[in-house]
Amino acid sequence: MKELQERIVQDGKVLSASVLKVDAFLNHQVDPQLTMKIGERFAQLFADEKITKVLTIEASGIHFALATSFALGVPFVYAKKKKAVTLTEEVYSAPVHSFTRQETYQISVSKQYLSPDDRVLIVDDFLATGAALIGLTQIIKDANAHLVGIGAVIEKSFQEGRRLLEQAGVRIESLARIASMSPEGIQFIQAETV
Ligand code: G4P
Ligand code: NA
Ligand code: NA
Repeated sequence: MKELQERIVQDGKVLSASVLKVDAFLNHQVDPQLTMKIGERFAQLFADEKITKVLTIEASGIHFALATSFALGVPFVYAKKKKAVTLTEEVYSAPVHSFTRQETYQISVSKQYLSPDDRVLIVDDFLATGAALIGLTQIIKDANAHLVGIGAVIEKSFQEGRRLLEQAGVRIESLARIASMSPEGIQFIQAETV
């Protein structure tokens, strides 16, 4: 997505060879117009898939799931990282290992909100190591729902997430694919035309 790539170049800050700060428009302060366009783009890419639900993980996936599900006309669900006191019903859960924080945490979704009839699109802000996204695919599998694919806003293609998920047969659509980056600049896999 051309506008997204331009915005990453303009307002993103490369903190190291592996960490991109996009706080100014994507995951702290949020640009609502850009967010809605991202949702429309995911809806367009997966238009033929008869999606019934969008699934993400708190916190930075939520606004993209909202935009995508709004464009598709279906609900979205976000996996919780901590078990809420009101979450008394049964849940599907999966462990996620965070490489950045070197800890494992549980993500969970109430069994009420995923069923074998669901055709699910996963949406998230980053595709990096893939740990969180693989946890979400596990939850979909446990629910016997159908995973249609993954929409990632930014993919760091030099990390192993895409490879791991493609090995599992998952369709991935990323709107900006970063081949490499350094404080001197960001190289995308391809220049977008749309
Ligand atoms: P992941 O690939 O499965 O996301 O796992 P990883 O352990 O690599 O990433 C941990 C968290 O850091 C994730 O957020 C992920 O979205 C985020 N992240 C990964 N790479 C980058 C990056 O280059 N820049 C920024 N800004 N974030 C990155 P999370 O744990 O889901 O937390 P939240 O922010 O959604 O609450
Ligand atoms: Na995230
Ligand atoms: Na994040």
